[in-house]
Amino acid sequence: MKAIAVIPGKPNSIHLRDVATPALSQVPDGRGVLVKVLRVGVDGTDKEINAAEYGAPPPGDGYLILGHESFGKVEAVGPKVTELRPGDYVVASVRRPGTSLYDRVGLQDMTTDDTYLERGINLLHGFLAEHYVDAADFLVKLPEGLKEVGVLLEPSSVAEKAIGQAYEIQRRLRVWRPQRAAVLGTGTLGLLASLFLRLRGLEVIAMGRTDPPFLNSRLLEEIGVRYLSTKSTSLPQASAEHGPFDLILEGTGFSPLVFEAMEVLAKNGVLAMVSVTGGERKVEIPADRINQGFVLGNKVAFGSVNASREDFQRGVQDLAQAEAQYAGWLAKLLTHPVNGLENYEELLRTLTGGKGTIKVYCVVAEG
Ligand code: BGC
Ligand code: ZN
Repeated sequence: MKAIAVIPGKPNSIHLRDVATPALSQVPDGRGVLVKVLRVGVDGTDKEINAAEYGAPPPGDGYLILGHESFGKVEAVGPKVTELRPGDYVVASVRRPGTSLYDRVGLQDMTTDDTYLERGINLLHGFLAEHYVDAADFLVKLPEGLKEVGVLLEPSSVAEKAIGQAYEIQRRLRVWRPQRAAVLGTGTLGLLASLFLRLRGLEVIAMGRTDPPFLNSRLLEEIGVRYLSTKSTSLPQASAEHGPFDLILEGTGFSPLVFEAMEVLAKNGVLAMVSVTGGERKVEIPADRINQGFVLGNKVAFGSVNASREDFQRGVQDLAQAEAQYAGWLAKLLTHPVNGLENYEELLRTLTGGKGTIKVYCVVAEG
């Protein structure tokens, strides 16, 4: 079968390659599921892997099949699979268990292992291929009604984890009633996080670098989120005028914003950091002030990566609720379909595209 792969460590090595079609028997205990890939989204992580800044191939293979944002249709199941059957729409989670205690209870997103296994990213092949096989335990079923937007489930799961963890952490307060949230960054993740916070009834301010109006700011308006450009409004200004923010989600990829967010976070507030920043940036920060604000204000900051099965399931529920409450909104995020695995060059080019680009994805097959 055809697959889009890279040679990790070699910049710009994206290519189409012929690989063996996976077999159900590769999964032990009869728990295998063979999935026909329909759509696969790409994001900054794929860009970094192709730039040889991130990612590793499976041991023994000199290449890595890309793609971690999957959507597909079950074609066959092993004898011990009762929860899925041919024809079901599924999305695979990304991380696979390593050895830590967390991995052993199904929370590999919380692993304390030094190396983590992620399909399409680190040490395991991804989904940008005609088929894949995985254990049923790592697949999440979607209702037929979500098939047009199902490719958004993996990025949704990342947003759901961050928000879910924030709420989990805030149980410390017994009576947390968050009113206002700020979402920093308005790419796919920021848009989905804003949506899920709106579904939880919060007032949401989203901030990004681009001057409005543009597609993302208009989409945010449609779900009742106020968009502010950081060019004309600083975070302290936004907080003074529209805050204080009980929850801030930092997802811009610009790490200094984390410390600005710490400064403006409301008393008893929670800051979720979700940007994977590979650089070496250094900044000067008002350490005493931030520390004092955290101490006297009982604030919390935490990091969040990847997602558990529960986060994927919450994602399915929220995507369905979004379709009911804001019909047609999610589909507007799917701005750039690229047809066929053979158009991998266009896929990558579109990913680096400018304004008007939200979700770029490969239409691997119709179905
Ligand atoms: C993926 C996550 C993954 C993270 C770190 C993101 O792009 O969506 O599932 O854990 O990269 O590798
Ligand atoms: Zn990703």
